[in-house]
Amino acid sequence: MAQIICIIGNKGGTGKTTISHMLAQGFGLLGQRSACVLTDTAREPLSPEGRRYLTADARSPEALGKVMDKLRSLNGWMGVIDGGGNRSEIDRKLYSLADLVVLPFRDSHEDIRAVVKDLETFPRAWALPSQWPTNPWQREAAERTVATQLAGFRDRILEPVGALSSSKLLLQKQIPAQLPTPLANACRGIARQVLDLLEVLYEDVTDEAEAECNDARTHQDESAMPAGTLAH
Ligand SMILES: Nc1ncnc2c1ncn2[C@@H]1O[C@H](COP(=O)(O)OP(=O)(O)O)[C@@H](O)[C@H]1O
Ligand SMILES: [Mg+2]
Repeated sequence: MAQIICIIGNKGGTGKTTISHMLAQGFGLLGQRSACVLTDTAREPLSPEGRRYLTADARSPEALGKVMDKLRSLNGWMGVIDGGGNRSEIDRKLYSLADLVVLPFRDSHEDIRAVVKDLETFPRAWALPSQWPTNPWQREAAERTVATQLAGFRDRILEPVGALSSSKLLLQKQIPAQLPTPLANACRGIARQVLDLLEVLYEDVTDEAEAECNDARTHQDESAMPAGTLAH
C-alpha cells in the first residue's frame, strides 16, 4: 500500500499545487516511486513526461476513488494529493484517508489566520511555511510573526520552502529536460522532511554531483516503472 500525503488548506494561492509537484519530484530524486494526484477542478492535468513521478487526474469523486484504489495496491509508492483549496468537505475527506497532511501557508496575516484554523480542525496536520522569504532580514521578520501568531503550534511547523521562481517550471504542462539545481535541491529538501516524518528509509543524496550520478542510475532503471499517467 502506498503512503498517502495530502496537501490541503482552506485558502487558495498558498502553494499547494507547487508543493505537491515539488514533493513528488523530490521523492523521485530520492529514489522513491511517487504519483501526484490532481483533485482541483480549476486546473488542467499535466503530462508526466520528463518528471520523476507519475501524474493522475482525480478531478471527479469517482476518479479519486479509482486512483485511491490503485495507490492502495502499489506497495512502497508515495501518493501526493493536491487538495485544491476552498473546499472544506473535500479537505476533511482527504484528511481522513491520509498518512500525512501538510498545510502550506505564506508569510501573511491572512494565510496565518487560515492555517491556525486548519491546524485546529486537523490535529494530525503539519503546517509548512511556503514561498518563504530568502532575504535574511525579511526571513527574520517572518519568523518573528510565526513565533507570535503560531506560538501554540510550534511543534507542528515544518522547515520552510523558500521562494523560488523556478518552482513554476514544475507546473508547466511539459517540463524542461534539465531542471535548475536549486529547484532539484528544494524538491529533495521537502521530500526528506516528509520521508523522515513517515519513517520511510531512503538513500540520501546530499549534493548535485551525487544526484547526477543517481539520476543516471534511475534513468537506466526506468523500464521498471510503468510509463505514462497512473492508469485507473
Ligand atoms: N516556493 C515558491 N516560490 C515562488 N513562487 C511560488 C512558490 N510556490 C508557489 N508559488 C507561486 O504562487 C502561486 C500560487 O501557487 P499554487 O501552487 O498554485 O498555490 P495553490 O495551489 O495553493 O493555489 C503560483 O503563481 C506559484 O507559481
Ligand atoms: Mg492549486
